[in-house]
Amino acid sequence: MADGVEVRHLGQHVDQVVEITGWVQTTRSHGKIGFVVVRDGTGAVQCVVAKKEASEEVWQTFADLTQETTVRISGQVRADHRAPGGHELTVTALDVVFASVDEFPIQPKEHGVEFLLDNRHLWLRSSQQRAGLRVRDEVEMAIHQFFYDRDFVRIDTPILSGAIGESAGTLFETDYFGDKAYLAQTGQLYVEAAAAAFRKVYCFGPTFRAEKSKTRRHLTEFWMVEPEVAFADSDDNMRLQEEFVSYLVQRAVERCADELAILERDSKALENVKPPFPRVSYTEAIAFLQEKGHDIQWGSDLGAPDEVAISDQYDRPVFVHDYPKAAKAFYMKENPDDPRTVLCNDLLAPEGYGEIIGGSQREDDHDRLLARIRDEDLPEEAYAWYLDLRKYGSFPHSGFGLGVERTVAYITGRRHIRELIAFPRMINRLYP
Ligand code: 4AD
Ligand code: MG
Repeated sequence: MADGVEVRHLGQHVDQVVEITGWVQTTRSHGKIGFVVVRDGTGAVQCVVAKKEASEEVWQTFADLTQETTVRISGQVRADHRAPGGHELTVTALDVVFASVDEFPIQPKEHGVEFLLDNRHLWLRSSQQRAGLRVRDEVEMAIHQFFYDRDFVRIDTPILSGAIGESAGTLFETDYFGDKAYLAQTGQLYVEAAAAAFRKVYCFGPTFRAEKSKTRRHLTEFWMVEPEVAFADSDDNMRLQEEFVSYLVQRAVERCADELAILERDSKALENVKPPFPRVSYTEAIAFLQEKGHDIQWGSDLGAPDEVAISDQYDRPVFVHDYPKAAKAFYMKENPDDPRTVLCNDLLAPEGYGEIIGGSQREDDHDRLLARIRDEDLPEEAYAWYLDLRKYGSFPHSGFGLGVERTVAYITGRRHIRELIAFPRMINRLYP
């Protein structure tokens, strides 16, 4: 008898008696035969109880099971190609580890999304939610593998900071022993410093934006991976991005076929995600949008419908590069060929997913950077260290930030990015 076998390993125990532990997903019975599907976190298996063969006690325990009761079951593993997962258990012993005190709040029927989000701690157990989070796990492993294989050094950057990373408008402020601290909007400024120490670096962690936007693409807390490369220009930066995104997508397609099937994601839509990605300049994009009748002038940032109109033209993500200075953050390098613009790019995912990456070449000239900090009314003292990087061995460098939830939403085909993080934080939600 094998103790404590995980359901995903049942195939190694055919004809043996094994013990599994897990939660009751469903039960049904046809007179003298009972079926209970048990989920153990690694998979689900149908367990069969025959009234004739089981003890009176086992049959009674089976009859009293409710959804999400915690059980320990012993039984013989039978290979059965018709069974989900390919195996069944013929039950010899059945014990309740913990009975639920009440009916499980999430039943196999339609629930409103606010109800599901209020019960996120329980909703996590549902098959589609588990599938989405498993893809996220694979993507996070792939992120680290990609950079590890290319000799990047991972740098963990602070979450509490005195400097504004992106924009003053979306800061979470907190008291810091009588001073002000902000929750990190980005780790970028810190990986720029580390790039001079290690050449190729990246950070990976939670970032915070007090976004007033209540859209399906915005969280107040989201995870971002931010590489930074010394001696890379904006073109090198885009090449790294297309290689990176293609790697993440293809790895998820290869390794998460079961999860994508549960999510009903047609992975054909992802097959073309390979370099090179199309490149469109901001100025070309504006001409295209105006031609299509969009009400947009050169100088304003692209809105969500503008991004969708552009990305709808392509079967893979598209770069829009060299935006107007005023539409972008203070640290981006002025474009020597058109000083109204900066050397930067957004990467727009297909199918309406919008921006998944923001990247740029950084301003490496001390005086220009200082002028930008003053123009934007940023507190100069907080940036003294950042300006030092332009005083002592300044160097051309570029980097980008990829939003994990938006990327996983695109890969899995989920509409709302809130489903791709275990406990989403949104403008109106801090619970559970
Ligand atoms: O374009 P953003 O603001 O760029 C930066 O933060 C740079 N410092 C990155 C860098 O160059 N190192 O954000 C980068 C990405 C976006 O493209 C998007 O995928 C994601 O972060 N993102 C969000 N995801 C969810 N909710 C939000 N509120 C997000 N804001 C940005
Ligand atoms: Mg951006």
